[in-house]
Amino acid sequence: MTWRAPAFVAATLALAIFPARSEDPPAPAVDRVGLPKDYQSAFRQLRSSENAKDKTVIAVYGNAAAAAKQDGNYPYGAVIVMETWSTLRDEAKNVRLDEARHFRKDQVTGLHVMRKERGFGEAYRGNRTGEWEYAEYRPDGSYITPPAASAKCAQCHLKAGAAKDFVFGGKKS
Ligand code: HEC
Repeated sequence: MTWRAPAFVAATLALAIFPARSEDPPAPAVDRVGLPKDYQSAFRQLRSSENAKDKTVIAVYGNAAAAAKQDGNYPYGAVIVMETWSTLRDEAKNVRLDEARHFRKDQVTGLHVMRKERGFGEAYRGNRTGEWEYAEYRPDGSYITPPAASAKCAQCHLKAGAAKDFVFGGKKS
């Protein structure tokens, strides 16, 4: 029989490594989002776009549940991953373009992930966006924004509105 750390041990460790600062708005203490390691092969690419001002490229991926959204409402189990890419620049710091005049991508600088499950999101209290929880990772799985600091994600996604299930992009329905 293999020994497994009880959930409370993991939660205590998470709190010790990423303590919530007292001025942080309420947010989940434990990561229930997770970086899906195989999203590039297992998920569907939903859209991508270039941001001329920031000189970045984003690409948005969704799992089968996210792709099965109906009436603006995502089913439980939906996971959406947004890659942010830096771009290659020339000497004048302009973005290098490929033959199709698209930005040449350099490196993934962040992976924004949101996951919807029954009962999720309660910890955000007044900033709750339905049943989504958020976290932001580096490609190696380490945190850029751990769950305890993810209230800012919910605060801004509130603006996408309940009618769109707090998701900004994607097909209108
Ligand atoms: C200041 C507002 C703002 C904040 C803060 C913010 N987002 Fe977003 N997010 C957006 C906007 C706007 C888009 C759509 C971007 C686009 O399509 O170019 C977006 C897109 C996304 C998407 C793709 C699905 C969608 O809604 O279109 C995910 C996943 C996501 N954000 C997760 C996060 C996570 C995780 C955090 C916190 C670490 C976060 N966001 C913080 C505004 C925000």
